[in-house]
Amino acid sequence: MSLPTPHPALRTSFTEAVGITYPLVQTGMGWVAGPRLVAASAEAGILGLLASATMTVEQLSSALDEVRSRTDRPFGVNMRVDAADVDERLALMIAAGVKVASFVGAPNKAVIDRCHAAGLFVIPTIGARRHAEKVASLGVDALIAQGGEGGGHTGSVPTSLLLPEAVDAVQGASMVLGAGGFYSGRGLVAALAYGAQGVAMGTRFLLTKESTVPDSVKARYLAATVNDTVVSTKIDGAPQRVIRTEVINGIEGRSWIRSLPAALTNAHHFRKETGLTLGAMLNEGRSMKKDNELTWPQVIMAANAPMMTKAALVDGRPEDGILPTGQVTGVIDALPSVAELVTSIIDEANATLERLTR
Ligand SMILES: Cc1cc2nc3c(=O)[nH]c(=O)nc-3n(C[C@H](O)[C@H](O)[C@H](O)COP(=O)(O)O)c2cc1C
Repeated sequence: MSLPTPHPALRTSFTEAVGITYPLVQTGMGWVAGPRLVAASAEAGILGLLASATMTVEQLSSALDEVRSRTDRPFGVNMRVDAADVDERLALMIAAGVKVASFVGAPNKAVIDRCHAAGLFVIPTIGARRHAEKVASLGVDALIAQGGEGGGHTGSVPTSLLLPEAVDAVQGASMVLGAGGFYSGRGLVAALAYGAQGVAMGTRFLLTKESTVPDSVKARYLAATVNDTVVSTKIDGAPQRVIRTEVINGIEGRSWIRSLPAALTNAHHFRKETGLTLGAMLNEGRSMKKDNELTWPQVIMAANAPMMTKAALVDGRPEDGILPTGQVTGVIDALPSVAELVTSIIDEANATLERLTR
């Protein structure tokens, strides 16, 4: 399939810096953004981010090999800033020639410097203006400003307000990409109009042919309307946008104490899945508690989200899990291939720019 030539306005400092054709990122969604999706994104001329927060170091290593076997184009890896083995992960990425390090939240200066010394382009995702200021002052190359309508863990400020705020706050010190609610070429042009250098999409890429989410689960997303998502703090203590299901209604109506036994079991499974030692997990818990002002029950609940996401998105058991999503799921009604999706987004962006500049 031949890909469209981008309008000159779609060549931004971001596409130049990362070496991609279009100013579009497929984000690192835990359990979803695996080698097949990332390689398809790279081959379609955009930046794909491999989700590694839910992988062991060994799984990351083989996932990197698999992406490399499918494409020689640039791609990135998403990881948690508080991962105890962040150094090991960075070493693997550097050895595999990864171009971009993407982080959930703000990485510290030492991690950013290590990435820069190895030539990695650093992009954290943030959800508030003050976090945009903070990461820009630490010298990140770009940041993804995710508005409240976005999927998974999310803030409360909508993209239409957060994105221009973030652009103004960083004053050109870092590039800014918009996220939360994007799915179309018109949206991409709107983000450029706000002063962004591109957009990042999560849910839109979860709903493609190359995404490994089971078809029966994809059907649940396609059937959802914009009013069928909800932001819950009961899953792991932090606000997370998910499809409203029976499981969510149950969790929402339950106290912390009643949720704890299931959360402890999930924490144990998560430790095994990600290869964390008990000591490393406790250390992460301590720093998470301090950074996010959480109580210990909330810290234990934090391991709940990844395991409940796996139950639904990998094992195909939504009745035992959660369906993290952006509100945008309500306007998506098709499962294109990644190349078809990127082509339709860029065709629409090109037509929009021509209409505006005619
Ligand atoms: C199923 C799912 C899992 C996610 N997991 C992660 C993750 O592991 N790391 C991360 O930085 N963001 C994660 N996110 C957030 C997305 O990367 C992205 O920022 C968000 O989906 C953008 O909003 P949109 O869905 O409206 O496009 C996740 C989102 C979804 C829907």
